[in-house]
Amino acid sequence: MSFPARRPRRLRRTPALRRLVAETRLGVEDLVAPLFVREDVDAPVPITSLPGVVQHSRSSLVDEVGELVDLGVPAVILFGIPAQKDATGAGASDPDGVVQVALRDLRDRYADRIVLMADLCLDEYTDHGHCGLLTGSGEVDNDATLERYAEVAVAQAEAGVDVCAPSGMMDGQVAAIRAALDGASASHVAVLAYAAKYASALYGPFRDAVDVEIADGGDRRGYQQDPSNLRESLLELRLDEAEGADMLMVKPALTYLDVLARARDLTDLPLAAYHVSGEYAMVHAAAERGWIDGDAVALEQITSVVRAGADMVLTYFARSLAERLQ
Ligand code: PBG
Repeated sequence: MSFPARRPRRLRRTPALRRLVAETRLGVEDLVAPLFVREDVDAPVPITSLPGVVQHSRSSLVDEVGELVDLGVPAVILFGIPAQKDATGAGASDPDGVVQVALRDLRDRYADRIVLMADLCLDEYTDHGHCGLLTGSGEVDNDATLERYAEVAVAQAEAGVDVCAPSGMMDGQVAAIRAALDGASASHVAVLAYAAKYASALYGPFRDAVDVEIADGGDRRGYQQDPSNLRESLLELRLDEAEGADMLMVKPALTYLDVLARARDLTDLPLAAYHVSGEYAMVHAAAERGWIDGDAVALEQITSVVRAGADMVLTYFARSLAERLQ
């Protein structure tokens, strides 16, 4: 029996050797924490389908962000749950809307110690639950929606956001938001484009978190991407880069690692991936039954997302991973 000279197991022999040759090193700096803030509550409200995640009150949000700052997490992304929803999602662009109030609190308290991102969409604020305005016949009106997104971007910028993150998948949204920011003396505000965002069944717990139900049993397949498509993502990514996006995102993460790897080859912009609510909830549910080791799976999954090409991962595991990665 003859052995090949090169034997890969030599470098797997001890923890120190494995650490030495690790190609991917997940660090606290890779993490972005998604946080929910709800208007008109005095205390955090748990989200049943997202164990360990809450709808924050104004003050509990400030406390949570302080802990993330201390853990070294570089960024948070805010989602708002308004007290009132209406047809145009007025709360999304109201200077006193829930996210704008939260942004001011956080900017006052933490200055530039943490990057403040805000999801930029209407679905949390509309009574019909769609990401845009509806026409008389109930279709999502792309160009009318862009005007609303522009107003939301300006409101977020005036409240102190560092990064607007449009997630509605309207055509032309990045260009519309960039123009609105530049026209409002907010050319310093960056745009993180949810560029390749799929119509995924993995957003269920998020919709519980923001109290969204799409009217008439509807869905988002008319604007979010078909999970069958890869090349379409490359087109979306290129368009968003050309429209002026500063960073690009692929969402969800694990079911689209092929998209992420291709996106990494396609663009030199910073690349984000969103490990979404359903991905988080599945790990928790299986761990609760004792079927998997939830902490180990979380680390493996988020490491895989970075290995596939993400520079940063939006994940509900941000806090627990940050605690473990100290
Ligand atoms: C839309 C938005 C959604 C998510 C982030 N932004 C929901 C959707 O498109 O239906 C989902 C995030 C998650 O599931 O964690 N504003």
